[in-house]
Amino acid sequence: MILCVCNALREADVRAAVRSGATCPMTAYKALGSKPKCGTCVPAARTIVNQERAVA
Ligand code: FES
Repeated sequence: MILCVCNALREADVRAAVRSGATCPMTAYKALGSKPKCGTCVPAARTIVNQERAVA
């Protein structure tokens, strides 16, 4: 599923970035070579980051 339309980031990409050490949407996007643009996806990205960190 596409999480961030502006950067064409998939939910799976963001989850993988968190498993590799990202601790928030900003660091996850940075690890993927992107940064938030419109910001629409950030709340959903934060939820995904929190979910992934909860199971780590
Ligand atoms: S949808 Fe992610 S920055 Fe726009």
